[in-house]
Amino acid sequence: MYNPFTLESKTILITGAGGGIGRATAVACAKMGATIVVTDINEVTLKETLDILNGECPKEHQMFAADLTNEEALDQLVKDIPALDGMVCNAGISKVLPIQFLNSDDMGRIVNINAFAPMYLTQKLYKKKKLNKGGSIVFTESISGVKMVSMGAVMYAVSKNALDAFMRNAALEFAVRNIRVNSVNPSRVNTNIVKNAVYSEEEVAKDIQTYPLKRYAEPEEIANAIIFLLSDASSYITGHALIIDGGKTLTC
Ligand SMILES: NC(=O)c1ccc[n+]([C@@H]2O[C@H](COP(=O)([O-])OP(=O)(O)OC[C@H]3O[C@@H](n4cnc5c(N)ncnc54)[C@H](O)[C@@H]3O)[C@@H](O)[C@H]2O)c1
Repeated sequence: MYNPFTLESKTILITGAGGGIGRATAVACAKMGATIVVTDINEVTLKETLDILNGECPKEHQMFAADLTNEEALDQLVKDIPALDGMVCNAGISKVLPIQFLNSDDMGRIVNINAFAPMYLTQKLYKKKKLNKGGSIVFTESISGVKMVSMGAVMYAVSKNALDAFMRNAALEFAVRNIRVNSVNPSRVNTNIVKNAVYSEEEVAKDIQTYPLKRYAEPEEIANAIIFLLSDASSYITGHALIIDGGKTLTC
């Protein structure tokens, strides 16, 4: 049957796969036929994801727990994993803090995991030729910083903007090996990052009204866009930031 979105015979690495968008992406990619390699700093939730994968779409899926901000752990991960046809660099954190309270600890933590870790992971995989020709890399960026700004989101915005610059540079440099590099840029998604944030129920209810579609995204809706960018259906798309925001930035 004609299906340009299939991930059959592709091996795909997904970081931050212990929950939220990463777990939804791992499950969705497995359902599209991929063999999945998952990684996360949280071994317990990562194992839960692997169990879901093995339960719903059994294959040779693998998990490797790793703190992606630790260079040795990154090297070990690159050594351990098989050659990849796709990678979703998705692990990330957030913290709301106005500029007057900025400090190097928080800034370092956020930029390290959101920007430097995916940059160095990508570099190491490319150098070690662990990304097959014709492969596809997808970064989970955000509308924050890249498309709009909001109060207190400066550290997060800086980190995602840095990643966006890297994404476009990598798209240019990796084209010679026919490796495509793109990003998905969601607005708020119903995951722990939003649940654990400091917003009150009233703030969330008010914020949702600013979205033309009047709701936040579900992780599976981001996963479906990632499938498109990983699949051969997007074979001529590289260096593109795909906004997924229920219309939020239409009026920005
Ligand atoms: N939820 C949203 O509203 C939203 C919006 C736009 C972009 N994003 C981005 O989506 C990505 C996924 O976030 P989510 O919403 O699914 O949140 P989440 O908290 O459910 O998932 C993030 C995952 O990253 C892992 N992680 C954190 N630090 C790590 C480290 N040092 N090494 C390895 N893994 C680490 C966490 O354990 C967690 O499983 C993030 O990059 C986030 O910035 C989220």
